[in-house]
Amino acid sequence: MQDTSLRGRQALVTGAGAGIGRSCALALAARGATVMATDIDFTTAQKTAELIHAAGGDSEAFALDVTDDSAWESVLAAARERYGPVTVLVNNAALKASVAGDRGLLGSSLDVWDRVLATNLRGPMLGARRVLPDMLAAGTGSITMMTSTAALYAISSFATAYSSAKAGMIGLTRTIAASYGPQGVRCNAVAPGVIATDDDTASQEAFMKAAGGLVQRTGVPADIGETVAFLASDAGSYINGQVLVVDGGITAHMPGLSHSQDA
Ligand SMILES: NC(=O)c1ccc[n+]([C@@H]2O[C@H](COP(=O)([O-])OP(=O)(O)OC[C@H]3O[C@@H](n4cnc5c(N)ncnc54)[C@H](O)[C@@H]3O)[C@@H](O)[C@H]2O)c1
Repeated sequence: MQDTSLRGRQALVTGAGAGIGRSCALALAARGATVMATDIDFTTAQKTAELIHAAGGDSEAFALDVTDDSAWESVLAAARERYGPVTVLVNNAALKASVAGDRGLLGSSLDVWDRVLATNLRGPMLGARRVLPDMLAAGTGSITMMTSTAALYAISSFATAYSSAKAGMIGLTRTIAASYGPQGVRCNAVAPGVIATDDDTASQEAFMKAAGGLVQRTGVPADIGETVAFLASDAGSYINGQVLVVDGGITAHMPGLSHSQDA
């Protein structure tokens, strides 16, 4: 049986103060990793670290805005000094389309495009660029890019910048895997579908139904946390440069063409 333990490894999760990022941090810590719980909002990162401590795990909270290259440098240096080099990176933080006012190409400003690309594509690139030297020196590493099914299919007049950034992350994933895989670094993307991260589950369930989910529930953050922890572990060590879609089957079929009954 292959090992899903992460004991002895240092992991850093961005956007760990909420939703999917918090779940990734908890799942990594549950397998024994020491987790740097980072977020632009330090208070929420602290809460995640407290949850990990309460569950018996190791964690420290850091303020980290993923768009800030010098912040990446100093957080990784502090982590290295206190715990050893980070060899598991989860690039999870993102600016959501609904928050950014990211609509159709003609319906949103250049400022929206720039802000979304800076957080959702440039940020993960900066993180990978800063963590890679330690991973290469260690001869091992796992980078997970939190992309989205929005990179794979479109919703009209919505999330133009977000979808473009998330699709860009997939290209970044593959080039990192191709460039550094032979030296022990794996880079994969996880593409969540609809994941209920707040109390708006009614609209998320309605979306899931309209979109044609093939599982009879909405996704929950733990679905993504467990996938990310598996990927980072030795049990996931033959997976490199891939996109793992965790969407309850939405992208597996064309619901608009479905027949209501068999035969
Ligand atoms: N929830 C979903 O249905 C869904 C679906 C597909 C993909 N995703 C992706 O999963 C990831 C997490 O989604 P979520 O629903 O948990 O989001 P969320 O909005 O609940 O949490 C995002 C976290 O990122 C932090 N953040 C925002 N900007 C930041 C920055 N510049 N630097 C550091 N931290 C920053 C926020 O403070 C927050 O804690 C995102 O990459 C998102 O695009 C989510």
